[in-house]
Formats: sequence, structure tokens, C-alpha cells
Amino acid sequence: MVSVKLIAILFIMNSTVLAEEKSRFLLKDTKISVVKEGKKVYGTYCAVCHGKNLEGQPNWETFGADGRLPAPPHDESGHTWHHPDSYLVEVVTNGFTPGKNKPLEYESNMPAFKNILDVDQIISALSYIKSTWSIDYREWQENATRNDISTGQ
Ligand code: HEC
Repeated sequence: MVSVKLIAILFIMNSTVLAEEKSRFLLKDTKISVVKEGKKVYGTYCAVCHGKNLEGQPNWETFGADGRLPAPPHDESGHTWHHPDSYLVEVVTNGFTPGKNKPLEYESNMPAFKNILDVDQIISALSYIKSTWSIDYREWQENATRNDISTGQ
């Protein structure tokens, strides 16, 4: 009996930990060391498409000849700041997944970075991006994350 109880307790503890993982803020845009690292990651892996100054590709809101959207800006003129932390980390990790966060048969030029960057590097690049926004945009994005945490999982 003791062992059954112990297993039950361990199970509860484990699910609490998992719930915490999913329900917390992920970006660390006020941590200088993370932002510094993220700037490097961004420059090496993201700037080629999203622009050295986060400006994105020209006509980013119009589908190109390949039927795909160009890379959007990550500055305030884009919509990265509309999205909660979990969504941003998911997109950079796995790209877009048709049927999940895009319509079925959607094709995108956003690569999945899961075999290239670890989660800390992904979070650092996104934290760097967020650190460039003014306080109003950062607060807006934090509210989106808070909302996602309370309704999402
Ligand atoms: C080969 C070009 C390319 C590279 C490299 C690239 N991206 Fe993208 N990214 C795109 C494109 C294109 C889209 C828009 C795709 C769509 O909507 O179909 C996009 C979309 C995104 C979005 C979603 C933005 C939104 O508002 O929905 C995020 C976040 C993002 N990229 C982050 C990154 C980060 C961080 C890196 C570097 C680790 C990176 N991207 C590297 C092409 C690229």
C-alpha cells in the first residue's frame, strides 16, 4: 500500500511540474546575458530572412511567386508582439504545423529549428527580439501570454 501511495504522490508531483512548465513566462527580455546571447543567435540564424534590423522582407504581407509569405519583420511594425510566449517558442522550434497553427496544406518558408538550436537558444533569440520593443508593446505581449496561460492549457 505504501508504495502505491508513494507512486500516487510522485505522479501528482510530476504533473504539477509539467503544468508549471507549460504555464509560465518563457521569454527573458530583461536578463542582459540572455538578450546578449539572443542577439548573436538572431544574427547567425534569423537575420538572413527577418533582416539585420528586424525589418523583415519587402512586401511581407503579400504571397510571393512561390505561393508563400515572405519573412515578416520582428520590430513593432510586424505582429510577433501579438503572440504569447508559448506560440513564439513553438513556431521557432517546429515551424508552422498545418492543421495546428495554420490551415491544412499551408506551406511556409519559416524553418523548424529544433535540430539546429536548443530551447535556451530559441528563447534567447525571441528574448532579444522582445527586448527591442517599447514598454507598451512588451506589456501587450505579456498580457497575451498571461491570457494564454490562464485559458490555454
Ligand atoms: C529561411 C528564412 C527564415 C529564417 C532563417 C527564419 N525565419 Fe522566421 N519566418 C520566416 C517566414 C517566411 C515567416 C512567415 C511564414 C508564414 O507566415 O507563412 C516566418 C515567421 C516567423 C515567426 C512568426 C511571426 C508571426 O508574427 O507570426 C517567428 C516568431 C519567427 N519567424 C522567428 C524566427 C526566428 C527567431 C528565427 C531564427 C532562429 C527565424 N524566424 C528564422 C522565414 C524565416
